[in-house]
Amino acid sequence: MWIKLLRRKFGWTGLDVPVIGMGTWMIEGRSRDAERRAIDALRLGLDLGMNHIDTAEMYGNGRAEELVSIAVEDQREHVFLVSKVLPSNSSYQGTLKACERSLKRLKTDFIDLYLIHWPSSQHPIEETMRAMEKLVDEGMIRFIGVSNFDVEQLREAQHALKKYRIACNQVLYHLAYRGIEHDLLPYCAENGIAIVGYSPFGHGNFPSSHSGEGKVLAEIAKRHNRTMRQVALNFLIRDPNLFTIPKAGNPDHIRENSGAVGDWKLTDEDIAAIDRMFPLPRADKPLEMI
Ligand SMILES: NC(=O)c1ccc[n+]([C@@H]2O[C@H](COP(=O)([O-])OP(=O)(O)OC[C@H]3O[C@@H](n4cnc5c(N)ncnc54)[C@H](OP(=O)(O)O)[C@@H]3O)[C@@H](O)[C@H]2O)c1
Repeated sequence: MWIKLLRRKFGWTGLDVPVIGMGTWMIEGRSRDAERRAIDALRLGLDLGMNHIDTAEMYGNGRAEELVSIAVEDQREHVFLVSKVLPSNSSYQGTLKACERSLKRLKTDFIDLYLIHWPSSQHPIEETMRAMEKLVDEGMIRFIGVSNFDVEQLREAQHALKKYRIACNQVLYHLAYRGIEHDLLPYCAENGIAIVGYSPFGHGNFPSSHSGEGKVLAEIAKRHNRTMRQVALNFLIRDPNLFTIPKAGNPDHIRENSGAVGDWKLTDEDIAAIDRMFPLPRADKPLEMI
Protein backbone atom coordinates (compact mmCIF):
# COMPACT_ATOMS: atom_id res chain seq x y z
CA MET A 1 0.00 0.00 0.00
CA TRP A 2 2.86 2.43 0.75
CA ILE A 3 5.25 1.52 -2.03
CA LYS A 4 4.38 4.63 -4.05
CA LEU A 5 5.97 6.97 -1.52
CA LEU A 6 9.15 8.41 -2.98
CA ARG A 7 12.45 7.50 -1.36
CA ARG A 8 15.91 8.77 -2.18
CA LYS A 9 19.53 8.51 -1.08
CA PHE A 10 20.18 10.39 2.13
CA GLY A 11 23.24 12.35 1.03
CA TRP A 12 26.58 10.54 1.10
CA THR A 13 25.26 7.93 3.55
CA GLY A 14 23.54 6.20 0.62
CA LEU A 15 20.67 5.19 2.92
CA ASP A 16 17.31 4.92 1.25
CA VAL A 17 15.05 7.35 3.14
CA PRO A 18 11.49 8.54 2.35
CA VAL A 19 11.41 12.15 1.21
CA ILE A 20 8.47 12.76 3.53
CA GLY A 21 9.01 11.86 7.15
CA MET A 22 7.22 12.82 10.35
CA GLY A 23 7.99 15.54 12.88
CA THR A 24 7.12 15.13 16.55
CA TRP A 25 7.36 18.61 18.06
CA MET A 26 4.27 19.10 20.28
CA ILE A 27 2.89 15.58 19.79
CA GLU A 28 2.73 15.15 23.53
CA GLY A 29 -0.72 16.03 24.78
CA ARG A 30 -2.46 17.07 27.95
CA SER A 31 -4.50 13.85 28.04
CA ARG A 32 -3.88 10.14 27.57
CA ASP A 33 -6.32 10.17 24.65
CA ALA A 34 -4.36 12.89 22.88
CA GLU A 35 -1.15 10.91 23.32
CA ARG A 36 -2.81 7.71 22.12
CA ARG A 37 -3.94 9.59 18.98
CA ALA A 38 -0.40 10.87 18.42
CA ILE A 39 0.97 7.32 18.65
CA ASP A 40 -1.73 6.03 16.29
CA ALA A 41 -0.93 8.82 13.83
CA LEU A 42 2.77 7.90 13.86
CA ARG A 43 1.91 4.23 13.34
CA LEU A 44 -0.33 5.08 10.42
CA GLY A 45 2.49 7.15 8.94
CA LEU A 46 4.84 4.17 9.29
CA ASP A 47 2.27 1.96 7.53
CA LEU A 48 2.18 4.51 4.72
CA GLY A 49 5.97 4.41 4.36
CA MET A 50 6.95 7.60 6.21
CA ASN A 51 9.53 5.77 8.28
CA HIS A 52 11.75 8.79 8.92
CA ILE A 53 10.81 10.06 12.40
CA ASP A 54 12.28 13.27 13.76
CA THR A 55 12.31 13.91 17.50
CA ALA A 56 14.46 15.68 20.11
CA GLU A 57 15.22 15.68 23.81
CA MET A 58 13.66 19.15 23.85
CA TYR A 59 10.20 18.10 22.62
CA GLY A 60 7.92 17.91 25.63
CA ASN A 61 11.05 17.54 27.82
CA GLY A 62 11.60 14.06 26.45
CA ARG A 63 7.94 13.03 26.36
CA ALA A 64 7.90 13.04 22.54
CA GLU A 65 10.76 10.52 22.54
CA GLU A 66 8.77 8.28 24.90
CA LEU A 67 5.73 8.40 22.61
CA VAL A 68 7.94 7.64 19.59
CA SER A 69 9.31 4.60 21.42
CA ILE A 70 5.77 3.22 21.76
CA ALA A 71 4.95 3.94 18.11
CA VAL A 72 8.04 2.12 16.81
CA GLU A 73 8.36 -0.65 19.39
CA ASP A 74 7.57 -3.58 17.10
CA GLN A 75 9.29 -2.15 14.01
CA ARG A 76 12.35 -0.27 15.24
CA GLU A 77 14.58 -1.85 12.60
CA HIS A 78 12.48 -0.34 9.81
CA VAL A 79 12.62 3.21 11.15
CA PHE A 80 15.15 5.95 10.37
CA LEU A 81 15.15 7.51 13.83
CA VAL A 82 16.51 11.01 14.38
CA SER A 83 16.97 12.85 17.66
CA LYS A 84 18.81 15.95 18.84
CA VAL A 85 20.92 17.20 21.71
CA LEU A 86 20.11 20.63 23.11
CA PRO A 87 22.91 23.18 22.62
CA SER A 88 22.91 23.84 26.39
CA ASN A 89 23.77 20.13 26.91
CA SER A 90 26.35 19.96 24.12
CA SER A 91 29.57 19.87 26.16
CA TYR A 92 31.59 16.66 25.69
CA GLN A 93 30.12 14.90 28.75
CA GLY A 94 26.76 16.61 28.31
CA THR A 95 26.35 15.24 24.78
CA LEU A 96 27.22 11.70 25.86
CA LYS A 97 24.76 11.86 28.76
CA ALA A 98 22.00 13.46 26.66
CA CYS A 99 22.31 10.68 24.11
CA GLU A 100 22.13 8.02 26.83
CA ARG A 101 18.95 9.60 28.19
CA SER A 102 17.42 9.76 24.70
CA LEU A 103 18.25 6.11 24.08
CA LYS A 104 16.53 5.18 27.32
CA ARG A 105 13.41 7.17 26.48
CA LEU A 106 13.38 5.82 22.92
CA LYS A 107 13.93 2.28 24.28
CA THR A 108 16.50 1.52 21.60
CA ASP A 109 20.22 0.72 21.40
CA PHE A 110 20.99 3.25 18.71
CA ILE A 111 19.79 6.45 17.06
CA ASP A 112 20.21 6.54 13.27
CA LEU A 113 21.03 10.22 13.08
CA TYR A 114 21.92 12.47 16.02
CA LEU A 115 21.88 16.24 15.56
CA ILE A 116 22.95 19.24 17.54
CA HIS A 117 19.67 21.17 17.64
CA TRP A 118 21.19 24.57 16.86
CA PRO A 119 24.67 26.09 17.19
CA SER A 120 25.71 26.47 20.83
CA SER A 121 26.98 29.75 22.21
CA GLN A 122 28.07 27.93 25.39
CA HIS A 123 30.06 24.92 24.22
CA PRO A 124 32.72 24.80 21.50
CA ILE A 125 31.73 22.74 18.47
CA GLU A 126 35.00 20.73 18.83
CA GLU A 127 33.74 19.32 22.17
CA THR A 128 30.35 18.38 20.78
CA MET A 129 31.84 16.74 17.71
CA ARG A 130 34.39 14.81 19.80
CA ALA A 131 31.47 13.38 21.76
CA MET A 132 29.53 12.66 18.56
CA GLU A 133 32.50 10.65 17.22
CA LYS A 134 32.65 8.65 20.44
CA LEU A 135 28.92 7.93 20.15
CA VAL A 136 29.47 6.58 16.62
CA ASP A 137 32.45 4.50 17.79
CA GLU A 138 30.34 3.00 20.57
CA GLY A 139 27.46 2.21 18.21
CA MET A 140 25.03 4.50 20.03
CA ILE A 141 24.45 6.60 16.90
CA ARG A 142 24.98 5.75 13.23
CA PHE A 143 25.39 9.21 11.72
CA ILE A 144 26.24 12.71 12.91
CA GLY A 145 24.28 15.78 11.85
CA VAL A 146 23.53 19.37 12.70
CA SER A 147 20.49 21.62 12.61
CA ASN A 148 20.10 25.33 11.93
CA PHE A 149 23.73 25.66 10.79
CA ASP A 150 24.67 28.12 8.03
CA VAL A 151 27.47 27.37 5.55
CA GLU A 152 30.21 28.82 7.76
CA GLN A 153 29.01 26.90 10.83
CA LEU A 154 28.78 23.73 8.75
CA ARG A 155 32.38 24.13 7.62
CA GLU A 156 33.50 24.59 11.23
CA ALA A 157 31.51 21.57 12.36
CA GLN A 158 33.01 19.40 9.62
CA HIS A 159 36.50 20.69 10.47
CA ALA A 160 35.93 19.73 14.13
CA LEU A 161 35.27 16.12 13.13
CA LYS A 162 38.41 13.97 12.89
CA LYS A 163 37.02 10.70 11.52
CA TYR A 164 33.47 11.10 10.26
CA ARG A 165 31.45 13.30 7.95
CA ILE A 166 28.37 15.37 8.63
CA ALA A 167 25.41 13.55 7.13
CA CYS A 168 22.65 16.12 7.43
CA ASN A 169 21.67 19.69 8.16
CA GLN A 170 18.06 20.12 9.33
CA VAL A 171 16.81 23.64 8.60
CA LEU A 172 13.70 25.77 8.37
CA TYR A 173 12.20 25.41 4.88
CA HIS A 174 8.70 26.29 3.76
CA LEU A 175 7.10 28.28 0.96
CA ALA A 176 7.39 31.58 2.81
CA TYR A 177 10.96 30.87 3.93
CA ARG A 178 13.24 29.71 1.13
CA GLY A 179 16.45 31.42 2.26
CA ILE A 180 18.41 28.15 2.21
CA GLU A 181 18.19 28.06 -1.59
CA HIS A 182 20.85 30.79 -1.97
CA ASP A 183 23.97 29.14 -0.47
CA LEU A 184 23.10 26.32 1.88
CA LEU A 185 21.32 24.05 -0.56
CA PRO A 186 24.10 24.18 -3.21
CA TYR A 187 26.80 23.78 -0.54
CA CYS A 188 25.10 20.73 0.97
CA ALA A 189 24.45 19.17 -2.44
CA GLU A 190 28.14 19.56 -3.37
CA ASN A 191 29.21 17.97 -0.11
CA GLY A 192 26.68 15.13 -0.03
CA ILE A 193 24.98 16.54 3.07
CA ALA A 194 21.25 15.77 3.08
CA ILE A 195 18.98 18.73 3.79
CA VAL A 196 15.92 18.02 5.89
CA GLY A 197 13.50 20.94 5.78
CA TYR A 198 11.48 21.44 8.94
CA SER A 199 8.14 23.24 9.54
CA PRO A 200 7.06 22.71 5.90
CA PHE A 201 3.65 24.20 6.77
CA GLY A 202 5.18 27.18 8.55
CA HIS A 203 4.49 25.57 11.95
CA GLY A 204 0.74 25.78 11.29
CA ASN A 205 0.91 29.12 9.45
CA PHE A 206 -0.14 27.89 6.00
CA PRO A 207 -1.73 30.22 3.39
CA SER A 208 -5.53 30.18 3.39
CA SER A 209 -7.26 29.28 0.14
CA HIS A 210 -8.69 32.84 0.04
CA SER A 211 -5.29 34.55 0.03
CA GLY A 212 -3.43 35.37 -3.21
CA GLU A 213 -0.82 32.73 -2.38
CA GLY A 214 -3.49 30.19 -1.49
CA LYS A 215 -5.33 30.73 -4.77
CA VAL A 216 -2.17 29.91 -6.76
CA LEU A 217 -1.66 26.72 -4.75
CA ALA A 218 -5.34 25.79 -5.05
CA GLU A 219 -5.27 26.16 -8.83
CA ILE A 220 -2.21 23.95 -9.15
CA ALA A 221 -3.73 21.44 -6.74
CA LYS A 222 -6.93 21.26 -8.79
CA ARG A 223 -5.00 20.53 -12.00
CA HIS A 224 -3.27 17.56 -10.34
CA ASN A 225 -6.29 16.43 -8.34
CA ARG A 226 -4.27 17.03 -5.14
CA THR A 227 -4.52 19.38 -2.16
CA MET A 228 -2.72 22.67 -1.50
CA ARG A 229 -0.55 21.09 1.15
CA GLN A 230 0.39 18.23 -1.16
CA VAL A 231 1.46 20.82 -3.72
CA ALA A 232 3.54 22.61 -1.08
CA LEU A 233 5.28 19.40 0.05
CA ASN A 234 5.95 18.33 -3.54
CA PHE A 235 7.55 21.73 -4.19
CA LEU A 236 9.70 21.47 -1.04
CA ILE A 237 11.25 18.16 -2.13
CA ARG A 238 11.77 19.06 -5.80
CA ASP A 239 15.55 19.13 -5.41
CA PRO A 240 17.17 15.65 -5.22
CA ASN A 241 18.93 16.50 -1.93
CA LEU A 242 15.79 17.60 -0.05
CA PHE A 243 13.67 15.82 2.54
CA THR A 244 10.78 17.19 4.62
CA ILE A 245 9.25 16.30 7.98
CA PRO A 246 5.71 17.65 8.48
CA LYS A 247 4.17 17.04 11.88
CA ALA A 248 0.62 15.72 11.88
CA GLY A 249 -1.35 14.41 14.82
CA ASN A 250 -4.49 13.90 12.77
CA PRO A 251 -4.69 10.64 10.75
CA ASP A 252 -6.37 12.41 7.81
CA HIS A 253 -3.44 14.82 7.70
CA ILE A 254 -0.99 11.92 7.76
CA ARG A 255 -2.77 10.32 4.80
CA GLU A 256 -2.85 13.59 2.92
CA ASN A 257 0.85 14.26 3.52
CA SER A 258 1.85 10.80 2.36
CA GLY A 259 0.07 11.50 -0.96
CA ALA A 260 2.24 14.54 -1.65
CA VAL A 261 4.69 12.41 -3.61
CA GLY A 262 4.65 9.20 -5.60
CA ASP A 263 3.26 8.87 -9.09
CA TRP A 264 2.87 12.61 -9.77
CA LYS A 265 5.00 15.73 -9.71
CA LEU A 266 4.75 19.46 -10.31
CA THR A 267 5.40 20.70 -13.83
CA ASP A 268 7.96 23.40 -14.64
CA GLU A 269 5.06 25.85 -15.08
CA ASP A 270 3.68 24.99 -11.63
CA ILE A 271 7.12 25.53 -10.11
CA ALA A 272 7.48 28.87 -11.91
CA ALA A 273 4.06 29.99 -10.62
CA ILE A 274 5.01 29.08 -7.03
CA ASP A 275 8.37 30.86 -7.51
CA ARG A 276 6.55 34.05 -8.50
CA MET A 277 4.13 33.87 -5.56
CA PHE A 278 6.71 32.92 -2.90
CA PRO A 279 9.90 34.70 -3.98
CA LEU A 280 13.29 34.06 -2.41
CA PRO A 281 14.29 36.43 0.41
CA ARG A 282 17.35 38.66 -0.07
CA ALA A 283 20.58 36.69 -0.28
CA ASP A 284 22.37 38.50 2.55
CA LYS A 285 19.80 37.66 5.24
CA PRO A 286 21.04 35.33 8.02
CA LEU A 287 19.65 31.81 8.22
CA GLU A 288 16.34 31.86 10.09
CA MET A 289 15.09 29.30 12.59
CA ILE A 290 11.83 28.76 14.47
N1 LIG B 1 15.48 21.44 14.06
C1 LIG B 1 14.68 22.39 14.48
O1 LIG B 1 15.11 23.42 15.03
C2 LIG B 1 13.20 22.23 14.29
C3 LIG B 1 12.35 23.33 14.52
C4 LIG B 1 10.98 23.14 14.30
C5 LIG B 1 10.48 21.90 13.88
N2 LIG B 1 11.34 20.85 13.71
C6 LIG B 1 10.82 19.53 13.29
O2 LIG B 1 9.98 19.70 12.15
C7 LIG B 1 8.72 19.13 12.40
C8 LIG B 1 7.61 19.84 11.62
O3 LIG B 1 7.55 21.22 11.89
P1 LIG B 1 6.43 21.88 12.82
O4 LIG B 1 5.91 20.89 13.80
O5 LIG B 1 7.05 23.13 13.33
O6 LIG B 1 5.27 22.35 11.88
P2 LIG B 1 4.62 21.96 10.46
O7 LIG B 1 4.91 20.56 10.13
O8 LIG B 1 5.00 23.04 9.54
O9 LIG B 1 3.07 22.16 10.81
C9 LIG B 1 2.43 21.32 11.74
C10 LIG B 1 0.97 21.77 11.78
O10 LIG B 1 0.37 21.51 10.50
C11 LIG B 1 -0.79 20.73 10.69
N3 LIG B 1 -0.90 19.80 9.56
C12 LIG B 1 -0.05 18.79 9.21
N4 LIG B 1 -0.47 18.17 8.10
C13 LIG B 1 -1.62 18.81 7.75
C14 LIG B 1 -2.55 18.62 6.69
N5 LIG B 1 -2.35 17.68 5.76
N6 LIG B 1 -3.64 19.44 6.63
C15 LIG B 1 -3.83 20.41 7.56
N7 LIG B 1 -2.98 20.63 8.58
C16 LIG B 1 -1.89 19.83 8.68
C17 LIG B 1 -0.61 19.99 11.98
O11 LIG B 1 -1.88 19.70 12.52
P3 LIG B 1 -2.25 18.30 13.25
O12 LIG B 1 -1.16 18.03 14.25
O13 LIG B 1 -3.57 18.59 13.85
O14 LIG B 1 -2.32 17.21 12.20
C18 LIG B 1 0.15 21.01 12.80
O15 LIG B 1 -0.75 21.95 13.37
C19 LIG B 1 8.58 19.29 13.93
O16 LIG B 1 7.52 18.52 14.45
C20 LIG B 1 9.97 18.88 14.36
O17 LIG B 1 10.11 17.47 14.35
C21 LIG B 1 12.69 21.00 13.87
